[in-house]
Amino acid sequence: MRMTDRTRGDSEGSDRVKRMIETYAARYDDPFWNALTELIETTPRNRIVDFGCGPGLFLIDAAWKYRAKWVYGFDSSPEMLGRANEFLSERLKDCKYEVEGLDVNVAPIPLPDKSIDLAFSGFFLHELSNPRDHVSQVYKVLSDAGVYAIYDFISGNEESFVERMIATGWSEERARDRYPSMCKHSLEDIESLLKSSGFQIIKSNRIEDIRAIVVGAKQAGPGTERSNTSMRHRSPWAYDDSDIRCPRCTSHKIIRCHDRWATSRGVQMFECTTCGKRFVDRGYDDYLPTFIR
Ligand SMILES: C[S@@+](CC[C@H](N)C(=O)[O-])C[C@H]1O[C@@H](n2cnc3c(N)ncnc32)[C@H](O)[C@@H]1O
Repeated sequence: MRMTDRTRGDSEGSDRVKRMIETYAARYDDPFWNALTELIETTPRNRIVDFGCGPGLFLIDAAWKYRAKWVYGFDSSPEMLGRANEFLSERLKDCKYEVEGLDVNVAPIPLPDKSIDLAFSGFFLHELSNPRDHVSQVYKVLSDAGVYAIYDFISGNEESFVERMIATGWSEERARDRYPSMCKHSLEDIESLLKSSGFQIIKSNRIEDIRAIVVGAKQAGPGTERSNTSMRHRSPWAYDDSDIRCPRCTSHKIIRCHDRWATSRGVQMFECTTCGKRFVDRGYDDYLPTFIR
């Protein structure tokens, strides 16, 4: 599929389309990709959706990074979608795509329940009149192992925001004027939106104090209630290791590490960076009591 008729023929907003394309590299820079990679493993995600996809550039990068088979872009602007259609048709190779006009403030997400592996929105949440309703709808269309990554400006540091926007060519007056609407939510607001919509694991990364990626996953990991072992193994981060301590020295400076024995059994291996102890997850059901090397 390419593009629905609803997305064609609107000439308004072409400046904004141009601006989104020109600023894409600066907005989706290395700090963004590094922060995203810390939050979401780059395992394949067959179906990816971008809400407020604009000209579709994130979908092109995401399709490659997560080896997607299908990507979907929704946006309320026909101009944006027209450009997204062009970019996606030119640049996607082994991935199908669909772009469709959708105003999420007024219409439901036209995707089946549990059909999406990764949902994303970039610089979009602050534009919505009812973000809670939108996030709840996203929850429904995500598969059990699915995640929703929300990337946006955050409130809390007006001076940094103004400084950054001036550096991109804005006047100080314009930056201060736009701060309340563009930095509408705090990081904690976004976390709370995800939580109240049913997401069980929520992780976030702040970027330079004015941007953040907040990721919600449907499934519980250790430290939260979990339903069964096989679901845990499909969890987007495999484990929530935030409350794990070293069984020898009790340090919480723990990193996940790769170990052939553990990987072949689907077990997560950890290493204590304080004393060097290697151990597997204490809660791993098939290996009780805890296997410690
Ligand atoms: C700031 S742009 C970001 C575009 C793209 N995500 C990016 O980062 O390059 C916000 C996008 O959200 C779209 N948008 C705003 N409100 C929307 C709504 N209610 N429903 C769907 N799209 C919306 C706009 O048309 C625009 O393309």
